[in-house]
Amino acid sequence: MQPKPLTMPIYMDNNATTAVDPRVLKAMEPYLAAEFGNASSASHAYGWQAASAVKKAREQVSSLLGCRAADVLWTSGATESNNLAILGVVRAYCKQKPHIITQATEHKAVIEVAEASQEWGSEVTVLPVDSEGLVRVEDVRKAIQPNTVLISIMMANNEVGTIQPVEEIAAICKEKGIIFHTDAAQAVGKCGLDCNSLRADMISLSGHKIYGPKGVGALIVRKLNRDFELKPILFGGEQENKLRPGTLNVPGIVGLGEACAIIKSDMKDECARLRHFQTRMLSAVQERFPTVKLNGPVQERLCNNLSFSIPDLHADEMALDMSGIAFSSGSACNSGNPKPSHVLQAMGVPDTLARSTLRFGMGRFTTEVEVEKVIDKLLKMLEKHIKN
Ligand SMILES: Cc1ncc(COP(=O)(O)O)c(C=O)c1O
Repeated sequence: MQPKPLTMPIYMDNNATTAVDPRVLKAMEPYLAAEFGNASSASHAYGWQAASAVKKAREQVSSLLGCRAADVLWTSGATESNNLAILGVVRAYCKQKPHIITQATEHKAVIEVAEASQEWGSEVTVLPVDSEGLVRVEDVRKAIQPNTVLISIMMANNEVGTIQPVEEIAAICKEKGIIFHTDAAQAVGKCGLDCNSLRADMISLSGHKIYGPKGVGALIVRKLNRDFELKPILFGGEQENKLRPGTLNVPGIVGLGEACAIIKSDMKDECARLRHFQTRMLSAVQERFPTVKLNGPVQERLCNNLSFSIPDLHADEMALDMSGIAFSSGSACNSGNPKPSHVLQAMGVPDTLARSTLRFGMGRFTTEVEVEKVIDKLLKMLEKHIKN
């Protein structure tokens, strides 16, 4: 067991997970206690209460994203949403050896699923990215084959914050009649995501990246654009149009709905505040230490993320000097794993530099005072280790 620290460090890991917003918690509470009904119990008031809460949450998600409430399919998180989007299409089109295109910096919940789907008869192309983590739209176009059924490209990367040109890719898919899926787990709440301008057919989201609870997410399935087939990957119930069986996680769903409603009202101000912190921290580092490498683009990146690689310095040494700050030395899934991150590798960052990478993820509850403390600590650490 880890010893409990006397004071908790400043939280700078909001790309790994976010704290539950107190307003979300308040909305969820009744459904963890008195209103405990099963949303599928159609014959009594407990069930009706739960079903009506789920309906409201569906409307909150659809109102944020500009899709229909009926397009929202509840899952346990973005991992499951990505699995359903990819494997569900492979199952539906398995007779035609379906070809899938994705790219190298996707979350493992896309890359590994696409790779695994080859066992069920798919063919997979994983496109390279440039040094900023961007996939080239032309590469996507060139990779299309007569049997391409699905293109899955994330909206924004969890490690380096790169925002992909998904609108252009979605337009190509529309032109060619290919299903387009995007993993928007990191983008929701930080990038404008409107289903009417982004013609994506499927979008994955996750509760715990947007100040909602863990263990809940959604896959937006928009058959309005294009009628395509999707088959379930779990069996044993008729929930969610027979696409995702299992008793609905009512408190989690209510929390995800409320988290979306808050984003709808607060996102503009929140992003401006986070962008201000990001600019402040980036310029403080770059002015004094030009050899520190910013991973990912300056402009087309998430407003809350900074990923720095520091030459000739090991992440463990940095962690010691940065005590009191909760940041990540890669993606949360990769920390503790000595292998350098697949994202940085795909961007051509040498392994030694990839190992000395720090990721800061600011969030809704980050304060100006905290940002200044982190900058102070970071600059002191860099001063100690970098000989300019
Ligand atoms: C881009 C991206 N996709 C998928 C996931 C997985 O989401 P979840 O934890 O909801 O399964 C994450 C979480 O790290 C992520 O950042």
